[in-house]
Amino acid sequence: AKSYKSISMAVIRRLPKYHRYLKELIDKEVYRISSKELSAMMGFTASQIRQDLNNFGGFGQQGYGYNVEELYREIQKILGLTITYRTVIIGSGNLGQAIANYTNFQKYGFKLLALFDTNPKLIGMKIRDVPVFDIDELQGFIDEKQVDIGIICTPKEFAQDIANKLIKAGVSAIWNFAPIDLRVPEHVIIENVHLSDSLFILSYLLSNQENL
Ligand code: NAI
Repeated sequence: AKSYKSISMAVIRRLPKYHRYLKELIDKEVYRISSKELSAMMGFTASQIRQDLNNFGGFGQQGYGYNVEELYREIQKILGLTITYRTVIIGSGNLGQAIANYTNFQKYGFKLLALFDTNPKLIGMKIRDVPVFDIDELQGFIDEKQVDIGIICTPKEFAQDIANKLIKAGVSAIWNFAPIDLRVPEHVIIENVHLSDSLFILSYLLSNQENL
């Protein structure tokens, strides 16, 4: 794949939002858009938008605006969403099953091959059409199926051990939902998700409202 390493992480972190808005425009059959219009939709300044999008080619034309499709496709490429990734979920409880049931990730190339758990009541079940296996089968499964991403949805006490197993088996990246900072070697990519961070910000904003 082409490397986009020169683009700063600050810009990269804004790309999913561009991606989302551009997809909406495509669904509405809007083919071109100015930075000013995008700015009004997205809440970034027009100059921020021009700066961001300048990072990856001249899709903006004076007096024309941006070609929505081209921009969308380029952002998909940068985000690696044109690649298919093979994923497994470890921990098949509430959250693990919710993620497995969310079919939208599949559309963007994240293929869920299996879930794993220690609970005999869950092992042997299927979530949609995806099987739940015994955690003891994790290593062998990853060896055989070449898994790229491990998604950790176990209680936090087990998360580091699971991460070690995933890394030893050869996954390249971990999407971690357990509320713990995992130690991983440098070559392994880790992205933590903490819904509570977002909820606590909401709480802060709410509790600091003048008229509460
Ligand atoms: P849950 O109890 O419904 O599911 C956990 C599952 O992990 C159970 O099925 C259990 O049998 C399994 N498990 C336990 N040890 C295991 C092991 N060694 N290997 C494989 N599977 C194992 O819990 P829930 O609600 O699904 O939460 C899961 C995790 O996600 C927790 O750590 C929770 O704190 C976290 N969480 C994080 C959120 C976030 O925003 N990051 C939001 C909600 C939950």
